[in-house]
Amino acid sequence: MANTNLGDAKRAKNDEFYTQYHDIGKEMNAYLELNPGVFTNKTILLPCDDPEWSNFTKYFAQNFTKLGLKKLISTSYALDSKPSILNLQPSLFEIESPQYDSNKARSKGKIFTLTEDSNGDQKINFEDLEWAYLDGDGDFRSSEITKLRDEADIIITNPPFSLFREFLAWLIESKKLFSIIGSMNAITLKEVFPLIRDSKMWLGNGFTAGNAYFESPVGREYASGVFDEKTGLVKFRNVIWYTNIDHGKRHKPLSLMSTEDNIKFSNHKEIRGNGYRSYENYDAIDVPFTDAIPSDHDGVMGVPISFLEKYSPEQFEILGITQRNDDPYKTKRFTSSEYKNANDLNARAVVMVDGKPKSVYARILIRHKSRNSL
Ligand SMILES: C[S@@+](CC[C@H](N)C(=O)[O-])C[C@H]1O[C@@H](n2cnc3c(N)ncnc32)[C@H](O)[C@@H]1O
Repeated sequence: MANTNLGDAKRAKNDEFYTQYHDIGKEMNAYLELNPGVFTNKTILLPCDDPEWSNFTKYFAQNFTKLGLKKLISTSYALDSKPSILNLQPSLFEIESPQYDSNKARSKGKIFTLTEDSNGDQKINFEDLEWAYLDGDGDFRSSEITKLRDEADIIITNPPFSLFREFLAWLIESKKLFSIIGSMNAITLKEVFPLIRDSKMWLGNGFTAGNAYFESPVGREYASGVFDEKTGLVKFRNVIWYTNIDHGKRHKPLSLMSTEDNIKFSNHKEIRGNGYRSYENYDAIDVPFTDAIPSDHDGVMGVPISFLEKYSPEQFEILGITQRNDDPYKTKRFTSSEYKNANDLNARAVVMVDGKPKSVYARILIRHKSRNSL
């Protein structure tokens, strides 16, 4: 029991999840495939990183020449600013460096930069990174890191989960290109969804099958099934990349069946033989599975959030999302005198099941863009 509580306390405060090298490579390759020059002559900032052991720093340092980078900057958050319960210590690399300062080692963040072959071995890589203590603790919100943000062309990281909204606002304010990791659940947030609807941000290429594996100093505190003893990694479902850098998957249209064929052949028993329900409170039909979107429906369709992983802006238009703050049709109508969960019913799209109103999961409201694109 004591262990469980300790585990909970650690988990609640924990932002320490380290991204795997091949996940970073896979995502960056998707951008490079569409635009081989995407990183050429660019300054990349990796904030909220741990450059001594981060795979982000490693990836961009090792590929510095191949990507044609101008400058790589990577910053870390001070040990004392991370939850003390994690008991993280300065790395051996830091302690053995000539610039090691025991007065700063716990309270200051660090900055690592790479621009040239500083050790003269005729290649530019991890070995050429130069580092110094920051003036502050490396908080991305500080003026010190914000200045680096403004110097950079592209900002890439897996930011602290607990500060996702703030981090995203900080990025958007910069008007820079970015690629960051976050939870798919964030899509419905009022700070996030409008950016997707307005094509200011989209989902990246993504993790294999939507499962992301991270290293974590408190990995063992997670339940088995989340923490894998064999690999030492923590597994999260529904983790995605959010970006404003273009990639090919985003322009691949979904291949879909007509309404009639879905009713005849759909793999989903809810659709096969039944068709689609209309919402009571939105002028739209409910499509509970992305692969069951009918190719010939002219009106609005409510689709699961995970549709966005398959969304191509040439194929569909995004109109809204079924949640409290977003009612494109002003049609919410359930009152608490009629239904005790009226608030829920008005927040979500509602279908009638056996004569009773039933709210469905959050849905994105979409429409086919052009008949020609089918
Ligand atoms: C999810 S981890 C990812 C680390 C690294 N980018 C990676 O993917 O391997 C987020 C990192 O942000 C740091 N962090 C937490 N709050 C921060 C803040 N306000 N400013 C900067 N970094 C912060 C955490 O200590 C942690 O190292």
